[in-house]
Amino acid sequence: MRAIEARSLTKVYPGGTKAVDDVSFDVEEGEIFGLLGPNGAGKTTTIKMITTLARPSSGSATVFGVDASRSPEQVRQMLGFVPQTISVDGDLTGYENLLIFAKLFFVERGQRKARISEALEYFGLTERANDLVKHYSGGMMRRLEIAQALVNRPRLLFLDEPSIGLDPYSRMQVIKQIKELNQNFGTTIFVTTHDMNEADELCDRLAIMNLGKIAVSGSPTELKKSMGGDVLTVTVSGGLPDSIPKELGSTISSEEGVVKILTEDGERAIPRITDYLEGKGTLVESVSLSRPTLDDVFMKYAKAGITQETSFREARSARRSIVRHGR
Ligand SMILES: Nc1ncnc2c1ncn2[C@@H]1O[C@H](COP(=O)(O)OP(=O)(O)OP(=O)(O)O)[C@@H](O)[C@H]1O
Ligand SMILES: [Mg+2]
Repeated sequence: MRAIEARSLTKVYPGGTKAVDDVSFDVEEGEIFGLLGPNGAGKTTTIKMITTLARPSSGSATVFGVDASRSPEQVRQMLGFVPQTISVDGDLTGYENLLIFAKLFFVERGQRKARISEALEYFGLTERANDLVKHYSGGMMRRLEIAQALVNRPRLLFLDEPSIGLDPYSRMQVIKQIKELNQNFGTTIFVTTHDMNEADELCDRLAIMNLGKIAVSGSPTELKKSMGGDVLTVTVSGGLPDSIPKELGSTISSEEGVVKILTEDGERAIPRITDYLEGKGTLVESVSLSRPTLDDVFMKYAKAGITQETSFREARSARRSIVRHGR
């Protein structure tokens, strides 16, 4: 059975923003599915509609065959949700936070203690269970939030930006635990992230969303292969020409003196591109050749959204301040 079937999901917020525009996709039971896209692409809104927290303006979403709009309670009982914003209370202990969730998610009284201990143990938080959460590190807090979403043993777990703001070690731990959850319990996982390495490592399949629509979907390997050819990363100084001739390749991104060019045969293209740029008065400092990464796929399909909103860099730093604000 499919874990999620989204059909023509659309959300227009009051004020007229069309955050999600006719989006359809499937998530199979047992897979880790990633939804990627620049800031404002509509990822969180999509999650909110599937998890019954927002009503679609049109279209539908089912969770294990149950319609989210028609039977929200039944859907809620099957899922866990770790939102993008902080979902634990700093003035309570880890244990108390989990207890509230156990009650909210209808875990039977007789089972609560065992479920909470199990979740704390699984995420290595047993020793800190009775400390106030405001004294936890960022990594511990994120793990507690995931633990919290698991007290009702959901078949489907939503993680909106699970590793944002974490240091590389905590991030690695969180990623490892998400994988283990999927492997050990068969939990279907729906994750959003801005980290392409993370998506590549974690996801069986993913979709890139842009301006409210799904631009492309497939396994990370399929998506990278679909780019075809090689990526040349050219570092230059001096001004760049507005564009390069089509027969030399296509520009994936151009930022601060680093141009990435997708080209059919990298080795042959290197001297031709260098000659072309130098002929235009651009000084080429270095050229390196690599296979397309998921970052390149992302830039290809999400570029329009990024340039329309703000630069990627600006969007990223704006996002960091939103997160800080949330805390
Ligand atoms: N409650 C709301 N009311 C009005 N507009 C909203 C609301 N929530 C989101 N939006 C708008 O809808 C669009 C999609 O937002 P959404 O939060 O779904 O994007 P996202 O892909 O999750 O972005 P991010 O990567 O920054 O988390 C944006 O233009 C946003 O400003
Ligand atoms: Mg979001």
